[in-house]
Amino acid sequence: MKALILVGGFGTRLRPLTLSVPKPLVEFANKPMILHQIEALKAVGVTEVVLAINYQPEVMLNFLKEFETKLGITITCSQETEPLGTAGPLALARDKLIDESGEPFFVLNSDVISEYPFKEMIEFHKAHGGEASIMVTKVDEPSKYGVVVMEESTGQVDKFVEKPKLFVGNKINAGIYLLNPSVLDRIELRPTSIEKEVFPKIAAEKKLFAMVLPGFWMDIGQPRDYITGLRLYLDSLRKKASPKLAAGSHIVGNVLVHETAKIGEGCLIGPDVAIGPGCVVESGVRLSRCTVMRGVRIKKHACISSSIIGWHSTVGQWARVENMTILGEDVHVCDEIYSNGGVVLPHKEIKSSILKPEIVM
Ligand code: GDD
Ligand code: MG
Repeated sequence: MKALILVGGFGTRLRPLTLSVPKPLVEFANKPMILHQIEALKAVGVTEVVLAINYQPEVMLNFLKEFETKLGITITCSQETEPLGTAGPLALARDKLIDESGEPFFVLNSDVISEYPFKEMIEFHKAHGGEASIMVTKVDEPSKYGVVVMEESTGQVDKFVEKPKLFVGNKINAGIYLLNPSVLDRIELRPTSIEKEVFPKIAAEKKLFAMVLPGFWMDIGQPRDYITGLRLYLDSLRKKASPKLAAGSHIVGNVLVHETAKIGEGCLIGPDVAIGPGCVVESGVRLSRCTVMRGVRIKKHACISSSIIGWHSTVGQWARVENMTILGEDVHVCDEIYSNGGVVLPHKEIKSSILKPEIVM
């Protein structure tokens, strides 16, 4: 089977992290987002993944080459010369997606995280006999997603409305599709949206079916959702009694600590924390609801909550970093500084406190 991952877009909502790497390569729970997806695809027998990309393909391919051999999966790029939206890239990659087998293929948004129930999805797709299957999930705030109105018993989709202004329902498109090759005949090679132009038409012909996604789901393309997504992901590791979760008297709740990270005396870490490779956390540090990327140093008695600390940054001693502070790569927060929601661009030094949420350029 084949799969296409939509990896275009500039990831502006995840800046400043996406100033250093394309969004799909930003680590989530100590692993680039896209690797979570590729590994799950491989596990259900996908042999070839096509990355639909519109900028920096070299960065992506160089990075993924290593995993091609490690995972035994073929990864190729389909590069747009202009952004083709969420459907155009499928037309562009048509020849890569179709083969004699006539099998359906997966399409994923690159920024969604879940338990990826692909196996269940294949069964669902076979059973309904329609042209396309999509995963849906319930959310409290549906207006920022594609909303799906479906028949509960069969899953047949009556209506698909992208980013509705008025309430139509709370089941939303999870960005995970399984499509018959015939769907490609509906898509022209031009910038076009699968949500606005393709799904509504298939739904009108009663050939679009939705399956409610079991387990957790999150679009982690924005900092607040990224931090919530980590909590849900770690919860699901806990339910599976995963040995990856850290244990010890200094650990509270669900925490991931990379094996090469060093944690000092008297720290209190958790809940919902991921500490990346090579990090140094000095003594007496307090961390909760945060991600600390590769190579970060957190000095004595610093306290970090609800924040993301970008690669190779340092947080000074007795500093307090909280409320959706996002530090880009190689940021230095001086001793005793307070950051309340600072969004700091790469390579900056923070010498005075950030008292209210703002972007520091
Ligand atoms: N190749 C390519 N080219 N990919 C693109 C382009 C493009 O021009 N534009 C967007 N993408 C990719 C993004 O990288 C992302 O993986 C996916 O398409 C969806 O784009 P987002 O920008 O993340 O869309 P969204 O989050 O506002 O909405 C989408 O996702 C929701 C679920 O998270 C829609 O599919 C909604 O219907 C859905 O509910
Ligand atoms: Mg998104």
